Amino acid sequence: MCWKALIEQAHDERGTVDVCLTGGSTPRTLYSLLADEARPWRRRLPWHALEVFWGDERHVPPDDPESNYRMAFEALISKVPIPKTQVHRIRAELDDAHDAARDYERELDGVTFDVQLLGVGDDAHIASIFPGSPLLDRADAGRPSTGRRQDVAAVWAAHLNMWRITLTPERLLDARTTMMLVAGGNKAAAVYAALEGPEDPRRWPVQILRAAGARVEWFIDRPAAADLRAP
Ligand code: 6PG
Repeated sequence: MCWKALIEQAHDERGTVDVCLTGGSTPRTLYSLLADEARPWRRRLPWHALEVFWGDERHVPPDDPESNYRMAFEALISKVPIPKTQVHRIRAELDDAHDAARDYERELDGVTFDVQLLGVGDDAHIASIFPGSPLLDRADAGRPSTGRRQDVAAVWAAHLNMWRITLTPERLLDARTTMMLVAGGNKAAAVYAALEGPEDPRRWPVQILRAAGARVEWFIDRPAAADLRAP
């Protein structure tokens, strides 16, 4: 199902639509298209009903060029009538990334995403869960959880020399629908690993989404799909 249909379905069923946005260059194009006055869906979507969240954030203030919030704000949120009180950003300006994670965990209490957008990195990371992440070592990673689980974590990304705040694998598996947006030949190995490769989530974090089965929908351009057996 496409983004518009998923939003309309959630709106009809529940009256509000909980949407989780992602960073990266591929979603930026989607956000700009959604905000485009000349396109039909700009006028048809129930923007007033959207509650907007993020799957991960860089540990920077919201006006920083690296901020995922800033990217989505500039490309989409500033251009459509989503009420300000319904924009739930990760407060990554807090000095300690762990405080930002705890704060966001509270914000997410009781929320189940109707639509969760995710990209995948060429190293197969999703949100800010990178290869070798300690979040992938937990016994319950990738499995339905029991009891109190952690939904948000602060993680040190050594190769980027920065803290990130990210949803945990358990939380990512909770969404009613996850839309994977993938473009470019540099993603071909990650897409193959996600859909057809042998199981090794520590090396290919995107594989944790296998546990969500048909609740994950893939939108892949031709170069990114190049290594797949099936067309
Ligand atoms: C981020 C993202 C990250 C992103 C992938 C794919 O903060 O960078 O949340 O997980 O989705 O890196 O990004 P591209 O679409 O730019 O390749």
